[in-house]
Amino acid sequence: MNKLPLLFFGIFLTFLSAWLGLVAAPIVQFGRLAPHVDEESGYSLPPARSGLAEEGRRVYASMGCIYCHSQQIRPEHAGADIARGWGARRTVPRDYINDKPHLLGTMRTGPDLTNAGIRLSNAMWHHKHLYNPQLMDKNSIMPPHKFLYQVRPIKGQPSPKALDFTAKEAGIPEGHEIVPTRKAEALVEYLLSLKANYSLPEAPVED
Ligand code: HEC
Repeated sequence: MNKLPLLFFGIFLTFLSAWLGLVAAPIVQFGRLAPHVDEESGYSLPPARSGLAEEGRRVYASMGCIYCHSQQIRPEHAGADIARGWGARRTVPRDYINDKPHLLGTMRTGPDLTNAGIRLSNAMWHHKHLYNPQLMDKNSIMPPHKFLYQVRPIKGQPSPKALDFTAKEAGIPEGHEIVPTRKAEALVEYLLSLKANYSLPEAPVED
């Protein structure tokens, strides 16, 4: 008996079930997700990012921050994220609809950054930490991102954007200052925009 057609039919069914489970079902579940418009305030949620923050999102992706940092808060029954203070509520698919590609990440060598903009709301702190994490916490294993900053001699008045390290602390020659490049400014703007503190119907923030 020729069993070849049966074999091909079996292979076809295997691929079909994978396609249904991995492509069709997610499209049905999430494909039409739209922003939620808050009735009271009229705001569209999740809020759109500013142009500079969106630029910073691309810097975040290109620097590989995702290899050490996640951006997803698990529900209370599935992990300790909320107990650790990483967020007030779990994150849901709608939180990511403005992000293409999304940057959920799976590695947690460093803390989750879903709410980095709430936990750490000071731009100067972020710049100093990015420039050299070990100067902010000597046990930090996060790599320094000094190449996002320019060390230059101070001409006249110091720049208002200069990092507030002393030359000795930062290990740079006296009379020099460290100023952020456009990439560093965009990246910090992005980090400050990371806030999942708004209520969605499927994930309300309890107050
Ligand atoms: C090799 C792993 C690694 C990479 C890559 C990495 N980080 Fe980190 N990050 C860490 C670790 C570990 C910590 C915790 C220690 C500390 O605060 O420095 C941390 C802490 C942080 C914090 C403070 C979070 C908090 O809640 O205290 C921020 C913000 C941050 N990283 C941003 C970034 C950004 C932006 C990038 C990409 C430019 C990046 N990290 C790349 C490992 C990493």
